[in-house]
Amino acid sequence: MTTPTIELKPSSNPLSDAEREAILASPGFGRHFTDHMVTIKWTEGRGWHDAELVPYAPLSIDPANMTLHYAQTIFEGLKAYRQPDGTVATFRPQANAERFQASARRMAMPELPTELFIEACDALIKQDSAWVPTSGEASLYLRPFMFASEVGLGVRPANEFLFMVIASPAGAYFPGGVKPVSVWLSEEYVRAVKGGTGAAKTGGNYAASLVAQAQAASHGCDQVVWLDAVEHRWIEEMGGMNLYFVYGDRIVTPELTGSLLPGITRDSLLTIARDLGYTAEEGRISTEDWKRDNENGTLTEVFACGTAAVITPVGSVKSERANWTQGDGEPGEVTMKLRKALLDLQTGHRADTHGWMHPL
Ligand code: PLP
Ligand code: COI
Repeated sequence: MTTPTIELKPSSNPLSDAEREAILASPGFGRHFTDHMVTIKWTEGRGWHDAELVPYAPLSIDPANMTLHYAQTIFEGLKAYRQPDGTVATFRPQANAERFQASARRMAMPELPTELFIEACDALIKQDSAWVPTSGEASLYLRPFMFASEVGLGVRPANEFLFMVIASPAGAYFPGGVKPVSVWLSEEYVRAVKGGTGAAKTGGNYAASLVAQAQAASHGCDQVVWLDAVEHRWIEEMGGMNLYFVYGDRIVTPELTGSLLPGITRDSLLTIARDLGYTAEEGRISTEDWKRDNENGTLTEVFACGTAAVITPVGSVKSERANWTQGDGEPGEVTMKLRKALLDLQTGHRADTHGWMHPL
């Protein structure tokens, strides 16, 4: 099967410069969308076809669309950053393409070739490049996704899918800047089990997390920390971020057990931390380790990391049985150093020694 090229059908009615600038002045996260989107169809026996870049518009969905009922759907998240010379580059899109393929395999969906994934993102960014913010940490967040587009109520893998990319200008994911978040250790609800879908970026994982997120909020916490589903002891990750534990010059992130999302930020930080002279490892951390090592002062900082949230310090922890302040509750030195190094790399202010930036 051949790879389709993306046909351009530009909008005849994009937002005016003034309207776009007003949005870019305060974009928030995931609230505004650019003028275009990419759509590529997949049909059993035919493969990928009808690749188009079209004006952003609602879809018309049949009530018996299989995704509405059985949730065969996956997504990705990556960002495009304005570089000092005015050009635009994305961060590790190949890694997102590969994770998208892994999610597709788990959810019995067709795998989109890496080149087509990157070409789709590039085409949208080039068309809507005026939407890439020009200042600071702001970026253009890309949301590639795929869902079953077949109509019917039989429970089986669909034989038609739609892949799309939309884009949304992004300021801070957590409004209020780099402010430590409070977290709730979820002992009642679990996110994922070994053999389940936790390592896939699929909508159902997020739907299932919302009741725990509401529980966290009812306890005055910003975010949920998920524990392993068997012993309810081992730290896995947060709702949309991985976690790092800082022991002086050594940083540790929960190992990939198959039930947490293999974050690209998490993976990048293992390398960036070593570049900065820290020891960086994957390991196992229990809730008891967290509390004890914070009390005895060996665990100096904890932070969360992800594409949307970049690096966010954890300032306090709560569960049914315990409640503590992480360190002094303020953003830690290692957290802020890693945050700066990552953002400097992404915005072109630090040498890209690992070839992670993809210029357009
Ligand atoms: N964990 C979950 C559940 C997520 O949704 C995300 C966001 O994509 C992450 C971790 C962080 O992954 P990444 O760094 O690739 O954005
Ligand atoms: C991301 O960081 O890209 C995420 O997917 C997190 C969240 C918005 C789901």
